[in-house]
Amino acid sequence: MPQRKLFVTTALPYANGKFHVGHIMEYIQADIWVRFQRMQGHMVHFVGADDAHGAPIMIAAEKAGKTPQQFVAEIAAGRKAYLDGFHVRFDNWHSTDSPENTELAQGIYRSLRDGGMIANRTIEQFYDPVKGMFLPDRYIKGECPVCHSKDQYGDACEVCSSVYSPTELINPYSTLTGAAPELRSSEHFFFKLSDPKVVEFLKQWTQDGKLQPEMARKASEWFDAGMADWDISREAPYFGIEIPDAPGKYFYVWLDAPVGYLASLKNHFDKGQAREHWHEPSRTPQSFDEFVADPAVEQVHFIGKDIVYFHTLFWPAMLQFSGRKTPAQVNVHGFITVSGEKMSKSRGTGIDPLKYLSIGMNPEWLRYYIAAKLNAKVEDVDFTAEDFMARVNADLIGKYINIASRAAGFVSKRFGGSLASPGPDGSALLRDLQGAARGLASLYDGRDYARALREIMALADKVNEYVDQNKPWELAKSDEQKARLHDVCTTCIEAFRLLTVYLKPVLPALAAQVEAFLGCPPLEFGDAGRLLGEGHAIGVYKHLMQRVDDKQLDLLFEPAVAAAEDAAPAAEVAGLPGGEAIADTITIDDFAKIDLRIARIVDCAKVEGSTKLLRLTLDAGEGRHRNVFSGIASAYRPEELVGKLTVLVANLAPRKMKFGISEGMVLAASHADDKSKPGIYVLEAATGATPGLRVR
Ligand code: MSP
Ligand code: ZN
Repeated sequence: MPQRKLFVTTALPYANGKFHVGHIMEYIQADIWVRFQRMQGHMVHFVGADDAHGAPIMIAAEKAGKTPQQFVAEIAAGRKAYLDGFHVRFDNWHSTDSPENTELAQGIYRSLRDGGMIANRTIEQFYDPVKGMFLPDRYIKGECPVCHSKDQYGDACEVCSSVYSPTELINPYSTLTGAAPELRSSEHFFFKLSDPKVVEFLKQWTQDGKLQPEMARKASEWFDAGMADWDISREAPYFGIEIPDAPGKYFYVWLDAPVGYLASLKNHFDKGQAREHWHEPSRTPQSFDEFVADPAVEQVHFIGKDIVYFHTLFWPAMLQFSGRKTPAQVNVHGFITVSGEKMSKSRGTGIDPLKYLSIGMNPEWLRYYIAAKLNAKVEDVDFTAEDFMARVNADLIGKYINIASRAAGFVSKRFGGSLASPGPDGSALLRDLQGAARGLASLYDGRDYARALREIMALADKVNEYVDQNKPWELAKSDEQKARLHDVCTTCIEAFRLLTVYLKPVLPALAAQVEAFLGCPPLEFGDAGRLLGEGHAIGVYKHLMQRVDDKQLDLLFEPAVAAAEDAAPAAEVAGLPGGEAIADTITIDDFAKIDLRIARIVDCAKVEGSTKLLRLTLDAGEGRHRNVFSGIASAYRPEELVGKLTVLVANLAPRKMKFGISEGMVLAASHADDKSKPGIYVLEAATGATPGLRVR
């Protein structure tokens, strides 16, 4: 078999959150494939990176009081624990906010531009005058133009499901500042996807076997609907890569994100590590540029079903029309659900990957379970506790691990650890097992892991039947049967080794333990073609894997105390001070950013049209008055407050509200669950304090 050269990636995760089990599923799927290819002697570079750019990350960093670089670096520092923990072995992990990515993305853009593939067009967009930036659709809300529900997002109504453009919203406001957005025009750059050349290319590219059949069908539906040009530019302020020769303009994050695949590979080459994965040391390793241009290299992407458009249209077109090689495969998987429930962005799922590890659950149980449910189709995978226990305990341990534990003791104690040769029935069984290698290899290559594991477990069933028929524990009772005992146990050990070869892509750590126990070098897929043989000495068997205990699953799904974020019912938050957990620790520097001042309430009035708000006129010693709206109308009559000294958050960004601009916020205490405990208590300063004093 000629050696394949593979360049494999998983989607680059947004650097504004930790990994959830959906990410881990994708990494396990790709890692199994990569390990299998390496076991076949193929050459693989397997890389990942953080997707660092874009408005949401810029805004999240600002909220956290950090630079975007600091913010993404902190997220990136947390990645290793997950990857090592689940035996996901990337050759390199990099970032899209890197010199390599800047150079590559700008290079690709220049080629596209020089090839006439970029158009400039002036467009009108909402602009937040308080924040001083153009607003991505997701930061605009307003009243639905169709059903008139309030607080709907800029692109679609969650109540009546209408789709519209943000400019159609009634009374739109910026969710960042509350300000009413203004329409402003600016020049944007478009990648001409509607150009007949591009459409022609993509029509062919998506239909010639690089995609799963259902994805190829999806793509033709998109062509039927018509291709629009793609807006690839964003205005400053933006956390991203500058567009060459266009000051103040940046690439939209989805332009530079997939380029990050190449950037991570280049970084890997430049660090000199790429050589290690070259299986033919006599040949000179290529440079990054040679490698990516090499027609023999297959570029393979693993992604989820939500980002197919980017990977099957934009990305191949970007590569093709900048004169680069296009991907050989884009492998799309479905989503993981937990007990049938979709993952919620705020709560994640019932499975926190780090918690899974920290309570002592074996990472290879999850690898096995996910593999047992994954096939080559774009289907969702459901995790349920009962199913997980059954697959791991009954199949993985009950069928496979048991074979070794049933035979190894006899070989060590009765035969000094030395193997005999299998009898005719044992030989027939082993030939059967060996004969499965080809079929299993093609199932792994085709990503039908579910079927591969079903077939491997069917082979394990045959071995267990053989054990049950021959009853080594009975044979061990009489000395006359000693030779038969030796041959039966040898068959079991040889069979166990063959099954280990087949399971190794899924269970790499377990396979390493088995290799040590059997006294054999690292197993390759081709090793299924031979046996350990007569006279081979095995080591002492130590228990290889624990069973799943249902207490562990109870613990895994036990809700975390701090997760009381979505208005937990009173019973659940009982015992938490004020109905909510204490927030994450901050430093004194974080606190110093909040400028609190004593302010006198010089006037207070009801707000026409609002039952919640009072309008406060405040003197904070600045020689002018501030207007502040406060949601305390349910607890105070205006005249009760006039003359009081309170505490003002003096450096809060002004917020444009329906009734005017609010220039700060006054402090008040309340219970998190305000339905059962309606009290709101405005903070007051002790006598003697004067307006303008800082509170620290
Ligand atoms: N940053 C983009 C990808 C850029 S690739 C050049 C992104 N990031 S993500 O963090 O939201 O998602 C990363 C991957 O995780 C995607 O392939 C996505 O489909 C996958 N998953 C997110 N939720 C998932 C599940 N619930 N189940 C399985 N995979 C899921 O998209
Ligand atoms: Zn609506």
